[in-house]
Amino acid sequence: MPDSPAPAYTYKPLAGPEDLALFGAPPVFDTPRHVNRPMAPDRAAFDAMIDDIWDRRWFTNDGPLVQELEHRLSEFLDVPDCVLTSNATAGLDLVMHCLDIRGEVLLPSYTFISTAHLLALRGLTPVFCEVGADMALDPADAAARLTGRTGAVVATHVWGSPCDIDALQALCDTAGIPLLFDAAHAFGARHNGHPLGRFGRAEVFSLHATKAFHACEGGLITTCDAALADQLRLARNFGFSGSDRVECLGVNAKMSELHAAMGLANLDAFPATRQAARAVHAAYRDGLAGLAGLRLKCPPEAEDNNHHYVVTEVDARAFGLTRDRLVALLTAEGIWARRYFYPGGHRSPPHAAANPELSLPRTEALCDRVMLLPGGGAADLADVAEICRVIRFIAGAAGAIREADKTG
Ligand SMILES: Cc1ncc(COP(=O)(O)O)c(C=O)c1O
Repeated sequence: MPDSPAPAYTYKPLAGPEDLALFGAPPVFDTPRHVNRPMAPDRAAFDAMIDDIWDRRWFTNDGPLVQELEHRLSEFLDVPDCVLTSNATAGLDLVMHCLDIRGEVLLPSYTFISTAHLLALRGLTPVFCEVGADMALDPADAAARLTGRTGAVVATHVWGSPCDIDALQALCDTAGIPLLFDAAHAFGARHNGHPLGRFGRAEVFSLHATKAFHACEGGLITTCDAALADQLRLARNFGFSGSDRVECLGVNAKMSELHAAMGLANLDAFPATRQAARAVHAAYRDGLAGLAGLRLKCPPEAEDNNHHYVVTEVDARAFGLTRDRLVALLTAEGIWARRYFYPGGHRSPPHAAANPELSLPRTEALCDRVMLLPGGGAADLADVAEICRVIRFIAGAAGAIREADKTG
């Protein structure tokens, strides 16, 4: 019998605060466990595609692998047009350009900062809105901030859960403005039984290495608007329609063949990735069950969430320690838990300076209690068990930790 592989950590006894790394003990993990460790697909399949790229000497500019990936994604997401880009931020920027969006754009404050940045860089005004109970853009709050200057709404499917698509579409239809979705997290999820990708005027997925489905770097714009897709294809390649014919303004937002090869290999692996991520999420659900003050967000089955994110909310009073103290204790153990999207777009430079009076209490409270744990398809189930053990110990020792904090 071969020896079983050595565990990547030493199981350490946890009896009192002195056993925690923040108080000088050795950490549980000697290498960090990250939120969303990147998936590494089958190497042989990837290498075979790289060999073909070398033989063809066609490295970028709408190569055969980019075309194949767009075709396969159209089938997978059941959406007429898929346009691959260098990243999601560039993709959303191209959509803004092609739709000639002007004025103010409504977006949730509780989202990744890239959207607010690109709006400001385009000379548009980001108008930050509140979250609803689902952590996504609250349609009623968006409606209250809509003005004659509003040019579009960009809503995020936070943590891969569809936001309130129907209410937001009704709002935008009434206002006569486009609805766009930041679907960066949401690959594979469904709304009303249909894969995300065909809602609003366009949706934009991130294929960054930390995402459930990735191409190392990359973006994916999906749309049912064929004319928009044509414009996007021109605009991602400097506006060129032929070798020397320029049709319109454009930038370089192309995806390379190397990135497309990674995307194709990961697309083949996606069903297994999603299954592994579900198992990781379920292990956290069991491991943290009944723990006062720490709530794990569990997406409803019907939405077919990719379960890539392990999202918890820390109630400092019930848990006995603040979210930030818990993050610090876990980080010292090599468990790189993260707050997200802290402190919120409206409180982040440089947007905070443009919104000095803006108060979004629900967003601010959320930013102060969300903590992500290492999860996704590349996480290790034995690590998850150990992470839950550490969290349970910290919860039980919260009073002693507070005392130890006081004495320094
Ligand atoms: C919600 C959200 N939107 C947009 C982005 C930007 O994606 P990209 O890095 O592909 O530009 C990210 C990246 O992490 C994200 O999480």
